[in-house]
Amino acid sequence: MSEFNLMSSGGSLVWLIWFILCVGTVNLSLCSPGSNNTSCLEVERQALLKFKEGLYDPRHRLSSWHGEDCCRWEGIGCDNQTAHVVKLDLNNWDTVFYLGGTVGSSLLDLKHLYYLNLSRNNFEGPIPPFIGSLSELRHLDLSWNSFGGPIPPFIGSLSELRHLDLSWNSFSGAIPQQLGNLSCLQYFSIWENQVNAKSLKWLSGLSSLQHLDLRDVNLSESSDWFQMISTLPTTLSTLWLENCQLGSLPSSLGHQYANITHLSVLDLSRNLFDSIPGWFSNLSSLTELHLSYNNFHGPIPNTLRNLVSLEVLYLGSNELEGNLSDVFEQFKNLTAFGLSNNSFTGCIPASIGRMSFLSHLDLSHNQLNGTIPKNIGQLSELRVLRATDNLLYGVISEDHFSKLTKLEQLSLGHNSLSFNVTSNWVPPFHLKYVDLSFCKLLDPKFPEWLAHEKLEHLDLSNTGISDVIPNYFWNLTQFSYLNLSNNQIRGMLPLSFTSSIFGVVDLSSNQFEGPLPPIPTNVYILYLQGNLFSGPIIFDNHENQTIVLLDLSNNSINGIISPNICKAHNLGVLDLSDNHLSGELPHCLENLTGFLVVKLANNNLHGKLPSMMLHTELRALQLKNNNFSGEFPSSLKHCKKLAMIDFSQNNFHGNIPSRIWETFPSLKYLQLRSNNFSGIIPQQICDLSSLQILDLANNHLVGSIPKCIGNFRGMVRRPNGSALTDFNGTVIYIQSYEFFSLLLVRNGLELVYTNTLALANNMDLSNNSLDGEIPESIVNLVGLQSLNLSANHLTGKIPAKIGDMNSMLSLDLSRNNLTGPIPSSLSELNFLDDLNLSFNNLSGRIPTGSQLQTFNDKSYEGNYDLCGPPTSKDCLGHGMPRSPASINQDNTADEEMLWLFLGVMLGFILGCWMVWGILLFKKDWRILYFLFLDELGDKVYVAYVLSMRRLKVMKRN
Ligand SMILES: *[C@@H]1O[C@H](CO)[C@@H](O)[C@H](O)[C@H]1NC(C)=O
Ligand SMILES: *[C@@H]1O[C@H](CO)[C@@H](O)[C@H](O)[C@H]1NC(C)=O
Ligand SMILES: *[C@@H]1O[C@H](CO)[C@@H](O)[C@H](O)[C@H]1NC(C)=O
Ligand SMILES: *[C@@H]1O[C@H](CO)[C@@H](O)[C@H](O)[C@H]1NC(C)=O
Repeated sequence: MSEFNLMSSGGSLVWLIWFILCVGTVNLSLCSPGSNNTSCLEVERQALLKFKEGLYDPRHRLSSWHGEDCCRWEGIGCDNQTAHVVKLDLNNWDTVFYLGGTVGSSLLDLKHLYYLNLSRNNFEGPIPPFIGSLSELRHLDLSWNSFGGPIPPFIGSLSELRHLDLSWNSFSGAIPQQLGNLSCLQYFSIWENQVNAKSLKWLSGLSSLQHLDLRDVNLSESSDWFQMISTLPTTLSTLWLENCQLGSLPSSLGHQYANITHLSVLDLSRNLFDSIPGWFSNLSSLTELHLSYNNFHGPIPNTLRNLVSLEVLYLGSNELEGNLSDVFEQFKNLTAFGLSNNSFTGCIPASIGRMSFLSHLDLSHNQLNGTIPKNIGQLSELRVLRATDNLLYGVISEDHFSKLTKLEQLSLGHNSLSFNVTSNWVPPFHLKYVDLSFCKLLDPKFPEWLAHEKLEHLDLSNTGISDVIPNYFWNLTQFSYLNLSNNQIRGMLPLSFTSSIFGVVDLSSNQFEGPLPPIPTNVYILYLQGNLFSGPIIFDNHENQTIVLLDLSNNSINGIISPNICKAHNLGVLDLSDNHLSGELPHCLENLTGFLVVKLANNNLHGKLPSMMLHTELRALQLKNNNFSGEFPSSLKHCKKLAMIDFSQNNFHGNIPSRIWETFPSLKYLQLRSNNFSGIIPQQICDLSSLQILDLANNHLVGSIPKCIGNFRGMVRRPNGSALTDFNGTVIYIQSYEFFSLLLVRNGLELVYTNTLALANNMDLSNNSLDGEIPESIVNLVGLQSLNLSANHLTGKIPAKIGDMNSMLSLDLSRNNLTGPIPSSLSELNFLDDLNLSFNNLSGRIPTGSQLQTFNDKSYEGNYDLCGPPTSKDCLGHGMPRSPASINQDNTADEEMLWLFLGVMLGFILGCWMVWGILLFKKDWRILYFLFLDELGDKVYVAYVLSMRRLKVMKRN
């Protein structure tokens, strides 16, 4: 079960949360069996009370532990004849009632204890040595705590143990057997010295063991692990070694290791294995085999086909390949078959209908093609069907589900499937988990059959729905993951919306309208961008707002940002861009310490910034196009991880500070355009070693351009173009920067946030009052694609080596007082698409060569001493020969036009933004292109990953 949940990259997290919460409530209390006529022994009662004293029990888990009859206390089980306490079960399935503190040795007084379960609590430190003296123990479960240090060898003295579970702790391994008989004190001193893990010899004492769970114990140093495990008695039937950093299995199985062939369940997932040795075919008792997340490659090993008892086989997340068409025949007895995240090809054969025991099937993230056979509808035991992200096509109809009465999970998203069912279809199943993203619903109405389901996870994004959501939908259930994005869904969200969701909700890019619903208190991620919502943002005055990411951009939201937003103290990503928000930012934002990304662009906000910039995690602050005022906030210097500062089009004033720039080693975007900044451009700005965009245009800056301007190392690199799409047969290359990818741990939620912006290296200092010369060092910025220094008072010559800047697409030096000739190297700028040198005092012949003549004379006008084409003035007086091209100019006008077109085409294919040229020719392309850019520029990708560990953390919070 957990494997399937974890495998889905998208909604699995919330699915898991749900799973834990719901299953968790089944609960704790192992009610005392048959303790009616017996009442517990005083010495044992005292022992339990003493044990309780050592515990940390913040949520009063053990509130029932008082009174005479300890057999009735929660978690205690007594023998119904002798009244001895025999069971202590403090397993904390629930997320809330964890225990911590000391596992007290008073338990030694429970002489008949055979069952001890402390799993899923918060115990730390080494396993207390007295546990080795609980000689009656048959069941010991310490899993999902934070016990650490080596696994103590005294565990090996529990010779009665049947069930040993030490998984998901923080053990560093085992200590050598010869140190076994240590006093408590000696043991602790060894633990303190971190003697590590060499041997599992202690296992040999466990002569009755049936179930051994060492998941997440690092056994990489235990060279004898296989020997020790394979010589355990034949009673051992279940062995869990997930995530133990194991690298290899012996290639042959000597007689002495034969006991391992009695295993029934073997979990080797998440290790480093790359081959399956032949002796695996001797594992004839094996019913369950987990090999996911290893390095297996090639076809499915034949050895596995000989395992006749096998019922469960997980091979997901390896590098397996081959045609799947004949595979199902050979594994037709399986109940669970996990093949996701490999490179399997071929189609799903009709013979799949004969896998009559099949309950779980995961084929997602492979390269399967063809249609899904209708025989799949015969699998009456099927509960989980996943085939997302393949190359499947065709129509899915009611027939595909005819006998699937037990189906709970259906994931067919990211294929080219169509979904065609009649509007009054009553499905045979009750689904909890549905992913049909990118399937085309042939009926664009909201699917009515959903009303019969018990949905927790629903993804109908990009399915072509054009409808209103029926009201009953919101009363169906509580969704932990709901994605209806990228459809044409209309109408308002009812009030019940907020109570019917938790976890992750994405309703972006639809046509929802009406007042924005209050931000739900129990949602982690909420995307409502790209709709028609209006009205103010309402945050409840609720102390436990869980929201981590809120994107409301591109709506018609108005009003102020209320201080209640600060109740959302986990907020990491806030995007309110492109709305009609007004007023000042609430001061309490200073208290929100977790901000990573704040985007408020294109609103009517004003006032000074609260010192939210003290938030050291902040990566991007975009305030573009508001009316914010005040000086450049020097408190920003604490945000050492900043990648983007965009204050453009506001009313900031004062000097650009000189002292803070060296603190931003990651800053890529500095945009202060169209404010009232004055003073000089401080030299220290050159410390921004990652800078790729510097935009200080439209301010009142004076003085000269710092000589060190060539130091922007970020502008030296030519951005890598990567092919992103293909339309009209032409590959478009666009620079894409994954400029942040970060981890956010909030309530155990591990959020990977990637914002991809397609932007060129760009420097714009235009419309200021800068004077002096253009520093020669600027030619070092060979990755710069756009340079605009126009409308200043620059003097002197254009740097002679300007031809070195061969990434340049757009160069504007117009409206300055530049003198001298146009350097001939300028003609080496092969990609130059836009040139403006007008209104200077340049003189001499316009250099001939690739493109300089193709710009029209507007590029050169207002320079009275320039001559040669394309100006109308000829250079006779300048004593320079005319180029052959310009002699014949009149006759070859048509040819030249053709040449221009080809030239542009060439640049286009070679890459990099020549696209602008072609846009002049083809209007349709232009529209496409801009749409495409928008998608790249503004889309926020959030993937979230929840490891078992994180889940553990979350459980505690
Ligand atoms: C008492 O325990 C024994 C085994 O421990 C069990 O077989 C029996 O049913 C129990 N009796 C009652 C009344 O619970
Ligand atoms: C305890 O005994 C009473 C009466 O003898 C009975 O009604 C009750 O069900 C018993 N409880 C348990 C847990 O056996
Ligand atoms: C295999 O298990 C049996 C009992 O189940 C035990 O006696 C024997 O020692 C084990 N074999 C090895 C090689 O340890
Ligand atoms: C399926 O099980 C039957 C009997 O349970 C067995 O005879 C047959 O060989 C098995 N098939 C495969 C492919 O393992």
